[in-house]
Amino acid sequence: MDKPKINFNEININSNNLFLKPLSKENATDLFALYSDEEVQRFTDVAIFKNLGEAQKFIAEYSKTAEKAEFLFLGIFSRATKDFLGTIRLYHIDYKHRFATIGFQLAKDYWGRGQMHESLQAFLKFAFNELDMHRIEAQTFVENERGIKVLERLKFVREGRLRENFLIEDKFEDSYLYSILKTEFLEKEI
Ligand SMILES: CC(C)(COP(=O)(O)OP(=O)(O)OC[C@H]1O[C@@H](n2cnc3c(N)ncnc32)[C@H](O)[C@@H]1OP(=O)(O)O)[C@@H](O)C(=O)NCCC(=O)NCCS
Repeated sequence: MDKPKINFNEININSNNLFLKPLSKENATDLFALYSDEEVQRFTDVAIFKNLGEAQKFIAEYSKTAEKAEFLFLGIFSRATKDFLGTIRLYHIDYKHRFATIGFQLAKDYWGRGQMHESLQAFLKFAFNELDMHRIEAQTFVENERGIKVLERLKFVREGRLRENFLIEDKFEDSYLYSILKTEFLEKEI
């Protein structure tokens, strides 16, 4: 399959209460706050930002490379308040075999309200319908109970335990591999 004719800089996904769109330089402070929060990043494989400049650079570089459609990175915003809630990314995108991996994080103030569930529902619908993905994968550390709950509530299937496949702060950690197929997502209307 060819790359989609969608500019990753111009995506805007709407759900009932939220919208997902690429970050602009005005969002750098919020992104820095999220990506420097060690509790949020404890179970993710994303580099912790050490200063605001790293967040600004990340946003600027994303906007330059987004049109290649190799990596999708969206902010999650409240429709009512326009507040920044978190991020979702799609990476390891393989257009030939039509699979990709997702990663996601919410600012702690928004945990426990179903915001990631709503965001991922809308995001998966976009990935399956607009990017024509067939399979979406996610990996979560075995101790990440919140991450596991989010995936299982969305009917991701646990495919196995990957032994010591992440080196985090000098310690090798196990993770679970999850996936959901387009047919499963559309059939279950999660
Ligand atoms: C993983 C993470 C996004 C989960 O956030 P979360 O707020 O627990 O997830 P959701 O937004 O889907 O909310 C689900 C919770 O809201 C509750 N909820 C309230 N209203 C809800 C609704 N309408 N729909 C679904 N859940 C709802 C659920 O009961 C659930 O609470 P519980 O965990 O106490 O049962 C968040 O903990 C996080 O950012 N963690 C750090 C980064 C990370 O680990 N990322 C994942 C890597 S795999």
